[in-house]
Amino acid sequence: MTEPLSRTPSSKHGGTLLKMTGMTKSFPGVRALDDVSLEIRAGEVHALMGENGAGKSTLMKCLFGVYKPDGGQILLDGREVSFRSPKEALLGGVAMVHQELEQAGKMTVADNIWLGRFPRVKGFLPIVSDGEARRRSAELFASLGINISPTARVESLGVGERQLLEIAKAVSYGAKIIVFDEPTSSLTEKEAAILFSIIERLKADGCGIIYISHKMSEILKISDRVTVMRDGRHIATEERARLTTEKIIKLMVGRELTERYPRLDEPTGEVLLSVENLSAVGTRLKNATLSVRAGEILGIGGLDGSGRTELFECIFGLSKRASGHILLNGREMENRNPREAIKNGFALLTEERRVDGIFGILDLTDNTTVSSLRDYLRGPLLSSAKMREKTRSYIDALKIKTPSEGTKIRSLSGGNQQKVILSRWLLTKPRVLLLDEPTRGIDVGAKYDIYLLMKELAAAGCAILMISSEMSELIGASHRVAVMSAGRIAGEIKSSEATQEGIMTLAAKYL
Ligand SMILES: Nc1ncnc2c1ncn2[C@@H]1O[C@H](COP(=O)(O)OP(=O)(O)OP(=O)(O)O)[C@@H](O)[C@H]1O
Ligand SMILES: [Mg+2]
Repeated sequence: MTEPLSRTPSSKHGGTLLKMTGMTKSFPGVRALDDVSLEIRAGEVHALMGENGAGKSTLMKCLFGVYKPDGGQILLDGREVSFRSPKEALLGGVAMVHQELEQAGKMTVADNIWLGRFPRVKGFLPIVSDGEARRRSAELFASLGINISPTARVESLGVGERQLLEIAKAVSYGAKIIVFDEPTSSLTEKEAAILFSIIERLKADGCGIIYISHKMSEILKISDRVTVMRDGRHIATEERARLTTEKIIKLMVGRELTERYPRLDEPTGEVLLSVENLSAVGTRLKNATLSVRAGEILGIGGLDGSGRTELFECIFGLSKRASGHILLNGREMENRNPREAIKNGFALLTEERRVDGIFGILDLTDNTTVSSLRDYLRGPLLSSAKMREKTRSYIDALKIKTPSEGTKIRSLSGGNQQKVILSRWLLTKPRVLLLDEPTRGIDVGAKYDIYLLMKELAAAGCAILMISSEMSELIGASHRVAVMSAGRIAGEIKSSEATQEGIMTLAAKYL
């Protein structure tokens, strides 16, 4: 049994904790890892970067025994290991914090951490003494600066809190290596700040941190070294101090990326969508008024919780409208539910795509065409040839990395799954396209492809609204930015005149 709260990795600061060499793994039609090596030192944050499908998650899954590598060697603290499951890895001191959390919902927070371990009270039964577990949890949380009640049910926690819980659990096992696979994509800014301070503490204790993310600013802020992978191969490992955003991008993409955003043409169309005094029942959304012209891309900025997602949900009929009007081309739209909204020409790409957008056991073609099936009718039958052809055209346009359009979506990398869901909504030929964080989890090169597609859709007369938490994206990929604050629209700025400070000032207006 691991003694809780004692974290004393045997290696000294700077010494090698983990060494993976010659890691190789193939799936049908894909060489996911080709002779990859990675070395992690005690007390470092090591960023693992690469385009969608480069092999980052696969490398980690080989470490955790989720996949059995075809070849390669893993040394932990100088000893060869080959874990057969994440549970075994955790007991061996290697923990993973990832997005798809599988925590038992009905359990309390304290049980979730200690179940099956200290302190057992009833003979051989793995029962946790409530008082003791609670006390230990409280101690653990206090040491990490986490504010969660040990008696709360896991199901009552938000995604961010669950993730912090997962980290606390890793710490309680005395993990020496902690892997974070895109940890902040569902965290609020506040939670992300807590995460970063915990990472600092773990570093000071001599843990080795592997950090996977597509957010360049995070990588530059917290990492000590960066390893870049491309097409299943190791490309480079560099000290952070010797890297810049441009250098990292070049290593990832394999060429210079001269432009991050396509040049947008000025919209010439009339106002297509007007939203007037929109408020939603049970949300903070209050009297939102805005208009978007055909051919225009409107960025929606604001802090987490400022009501941006609620605005989209209300427009799309996912929440009940308390007041206000939605006009399309001057005609009143009820949009009482999503079905009605889709019929009226609205499409919504949600923020939690991994949760509510993917039909895992179906292939790419079905996942892509499911919302636009009537376009493939030939008489009463669906033309699967047409469906496949359409899917292939989006695989090309968005550079989706897949063996074919008949591949099951769940075998795609996280970012590539997202591109498939985006194609699905683009195929509904919407007149109003609502995009909630469309490039989250998408690599830099592919982001450009998505902006380009947005530009084309706008040019074809679509009105696009895009929520983004990335300032440069808000300014670079839209014509105009509307900023929300405490449920209201705080103001609008033309992108050509927008600055980060200007947006932040508006975001704080009603706080
Ligand atoms: N279970 C699987 N079956 C088949 N192919 C797989 C499986 N898991 C991964 N792959 C393939 O291996 C390659 C690497 O995928 P991986 O998930 O490691 O990428 P990644 O670098 O984590 O990308 P992302 O940034 O999008 O998360 C991809 O081409 C993917 O389709
Ligand atoms: Mg991944």
